[in-house]
Amino acid sequence: MFLTALRDLDSFDSALRAGGDDFLTKPFRPTELLLRVQAALRLRRANASNREYVELVRRQRDDLMRLQLQKERLMGFVVHDLKNPVSNIDLQAQLLLRDRDSAAAQAIGGSIRDEVRSLLRLLLNLLDISKSEEGKLVPVPASVDLPQLVRDACDALEVRARAKNIALNSSIDVSTLNVDADLFRRIIENLLENALRHAPGDTAVHVSASGDARETELRVSDSGLGVPRELREAIFERFVQVDTQDRGVTRSGRGLGLAFCRLAVEAHGGRIWVEDAEPGAVFCLRLPNAG
Ligand SMILES: Nc1ncnc2c1ncn2[C@@H]1O[C@H](COP(=O)(O)OP(=O)(O)OP(=O)(O)O)[C@@H](O)[C@H]1O
Ligand SMILES: [Mg+2]
Repeated sequence: MFLTALRDLDSFDSALRAGGDDFLTKPFRPTELLLRVQAALRLRRANASNREYVELVRRQRDDLMRLQLQKERLMGFVVHDLKNPVSNIDLQAQLLLRDRDSAAAQAIGGSIRDEVRSLLRLLLNLLDISKSEEGKLVPVPASVDLPQLVRDACDALEVRARAKNIALNSSIDVSTLNVDADLFRRIIENLLENALRHAPGDTAVHVSASGDARETELRVSDSGLGVPRELREAIFERFVQVDTQDRGVTRSGRGLGLAFCRLAVEAHGGRIWVEDAEPGAVFCLRLPNAG
């Protein structure tokens, strides 16, 4: 009986493959009808999974093309973004060599350092974003002296703050944090760099940290124009920048800093978001405390 059913199924399949669908003879035999329905269902399932497969291949092809395009764009950006600051550094170094002992030399030295640090930040952001895409952005946590780490980040941006007469204040109520020191310092530096760019001159940028046994929250606030509500999620995506027209802010960089921050914060198991400081923006990040 079972063998007969199988034979029926085979002949039904070959009939289907041959394109025949009028082989069901009258009067209908229930087994034959059942087999025909089963085969039709199988065929429909096969068609559906073929369609899914084609859709999957199409999606993968689109992803690959998008990635390739992104890589080419990035290459263009890197060449463009490195050219100007590197020429600038070269010029300033020449001035410094000519006029080593003057007071101006000090200022030039500071400005070279600031420019080099900013370039390094851009390169490291790029490297870490691509590491994260390959699943290789793995923090190496250790116990870090948070007030010291924030001081280091502020020192790295001191020249920039001085240039706009912005006070960089901090109030850190957390003594140690279990994080990857290098990644975490760069998160803060990126947030500070943004805050300093968007804060009006003669104002203050504030970094604060507080926490309890479960988690630690760090906040970086400025009193600039803030981030429009509809872009508060999007700015954490790569290459997303708020239109600077009419905002009185010089656009610089490529919209990679916050993408790096989000990836690095999430790699620590935390989250990052932006709030309104009325006026200004507050970038907040919250990390779970280990253990
Ligand atoms: N403190 C802030 N106030 C207002 N807008 C901000 C602030 N920080 C970031 N933004 C907006 O979010 C965008 C994305 O920030 P992000 O740090 O990713 O890129 P970027 O600073 O433009 O370039 P990069 O960091 O690559 O040098 C910025 O271009 C800016 O429009
Ligand atoms: Mg930035």
